[in-house]
Amino acid sequence: MCQNCAYNSPKYLGRCPNCGSWSSFVEEVEVAEVKNARVSLTGEKTKPMKLADVTSINVHRTKTEMEEFNRVLGGGVVPGSLVLIGGDPGIGKSTLLLQVSTQLSQVGTVLYVSGEESAQQIKLRAERLGDIDSEFYLYAETNMQSVRAEVERIQPDFLIIDSIQTIMSPEISGVQGSVSQVREVTAELMQLAKTNNIAIFIVGHVTKEGTLAGPRMLEHMVDTVLYFEGNATTPSES
Ligand SMILES: Nc1ncnc2c1ncn2[C@@H]1O[C@H](COP(=O)(O)OP(=O)(O)OP(=O)(O)O)[C@@H](O)[C@H]1O
Ligand SMILES: [Mg+2]
Ligand SMILES: [Zn+2]
Repeated sequence: MCQNCAYNSPKYLGRCPNCGSWSSFVEEVEVAEVKNARVSLTGEKTKPMKLADVTSINVHRTKTEMEEFNRVLGGGVVPGSLVLIGGDPGIGKSTLLLQVSTQLSQVGTVLYVSGEESAQQIKLRAERLGDIDSEFYLYAETNMQSVRAEVERIQPDFLIIDSIQTIMSPEISGVQGSVSQVREVTAELMQLAKTNNIAIFIVGHVTKEGTLAGPRMLEHMVDTVLYFEGNATTPSES
């Protein structure tokens, strides 16, 4: 399977015919899945209805103290939405989300899952960034099953996954960060977001070019994709 675009081939290919990536193929065992049978995300049976009869709801967007962050989200954090934050390594994704999390914990319950850093490391950084509220849960975990269990227990309003490449589902074959893992975990997160009305932020090591480390197909699965880019200034200029 191409690790860039999820293109399938029964044999190894040097270059992906779909996206043109070189040496992007990794052997993955396909599991027969009934899980993929399409079901409504909310688990409810729906019927077609007249557009005029659909009641419009006014979503309550939670505003953070970061104006620009609110703006790119269309005015604030939307409950039940799945947002991908992509960007180069070291650009500041974890720092930004931690800062946003400390603010969100003033208005709701935050569960910050990190598969990259220890709880101690994150706390040190969080203390530098702002007031930590008691409704801020840190969870250093990489197993999706455990994450799901904690989400059901804590019932957070906001869930941060840092990063999607480090979380894995034990029921699925494939190593951490492989296309099948990323796809399955993202699908599960989507379900969690919709059924529990949680706003979920996923950190992904995905560059705009999509070449470096990123399965591009993540973009098609989430509601919103935000790319975090720095401007090319030297330290002395900034
Ligand atoms: N707004 C900022 N201004 C100055 N320094 C920052 C800012 N945001 C992050 N940093 C610093 O940049 C470094 C990398 O930040 P961070 O770990 O958040 O990046 P990341 O995108 O999560 O990286 P990785 O991809 O490795 O997880 C840290 O040392 C952090 O203190
Ligand atoms: Mg990080
Ligand atoms: Zn490809």
